[in-house]
Amino acid sequence: MTTLFDPLRFGEISVANRIVMAPLTRDRAGPNQVPTPLMATYYEQRASAGLIVSEGTQVSPDGQGYLDTPGIYSAEQVAGWRRVTDAVHAAGGKMVAQLWHVGRISHVSLLPLGQVPVSSTARAAKTKTFTKAGFEAVSEPRALRLDEIAGVVAKFRHAARCAIDAGFDGVEVHGANGYLFEQFLRDSVNDRTDAYGGSFENRSRLLLEVIQAITSEIGHGRTGLRLSPVTPANDAAQDSNAQALFEYAVEQLAPMRMAFLHVVEGSTGGPRDIAPFDYAALRSRFKQGNEHGAWMVNNGYTRQMALNVVASGQADLVAFGKSFIGNPDLVRRLREDAPLAPLNQKLLYGGGAEGYTDYPALETAAA
Ligand code: PHB
Repeated sequence: MTTLFDPLRFGEISVANRIVMAPLTRDRAGPNQVPTPLMATYYEQRASAGLIVSEGTQVSPDGQGYLDTPGIYSAEQVAGWRRVTDAVHAAGGKMVAQLWHVGRISHVSLLPLGQVPVSSTARAAKTKTFTKAGFEAVSEPRALRLDEIAGVVAKFRHAARCAIDAGFDGVEVHGANGYLFEQFLRDSVNDRTDAYGGSFENRSRLLLEVIQAITSEIGHGRTGLRLSPVTPANDAAQDSNAQALFEYAVEQLAPMRMAFLHVVEGSTGGPRDIAPFDYAALRSRFKQGNEHGAWMVNNGYTRQMALNVVASGQADLVAFGKSFIGNPDLVRRLREDAPLAPLNQKLLYGGGAEGYTDYPALETAAA
């Protein structure tokens, strides 16, 4: 019987166990959005995860939506990430870069001078972002012109190449949580009348073009995707037919034979039962034509839930988010059924080592 602690190979990625560190925004990048040595320490401490998914990492300056998030488009950023991936690999871990474009979830103060956020739509989201001034309402976006879409695809392709150059084992496209791809996918947000709005086919087009570009750039075995079919995060209201929309998109993606699909079940970081959704149906669409692609689940998994979902074969990998913040040795604690330490909510975003690299591992905690 397969357990949470067994190794797995999916695509070109081999992991020592089925426990994944989920992407977590921590807002501690340095000048020019370059990853710092402190970030390398933070990830190295958590390298006993079978796989680490990096915090969201913008693919271009216009993809940034929060203060001090790292980028993955410049040589300087690639060199910064190289320190991170070297540290994780030296500690026996594996790591993929989460490729992020926030779309309309941004503020003009975070963008190159004179730019406004871009999206599928010109309608602003009713939400806030984290800027130099603290939490501020997001800025009104403009809708991407049809002739700009190829440029967005090119930015993701370039970022995927940068990720490989930086030593990552692969990439995860951030298709979740109300950011750019969900702004195209969901009919609650997308109000376009061109080839990127309207039908499932049109609303899925940007995502499919990006996955196609990345798989051809770095190989399907190093490409993954995160989706969150029903999360209300970032003012993305429910799609009028989320089940059929996401089944369509995943069915189209299956022949591209991605290494993994990572699904946030329910409301990101919140209730799992926010809206009905048949995730098993989504999984079977993914596995049809891509039986070796890994199915990664996330959101509020307890130890027992994670043990059960892997043992029953309903998932191949389980991603844990917040519990990895306070527990750098989460894998050991899950194996030994040891107590989990809480995290300090006030130290989540920005700052330095405090509330970041100073959470002790079990031995020190017990001493
Ligand atoms: C957050 O900063 O809370 C955050 C960032 C990216 C996500 C979700 C949440 O995808």
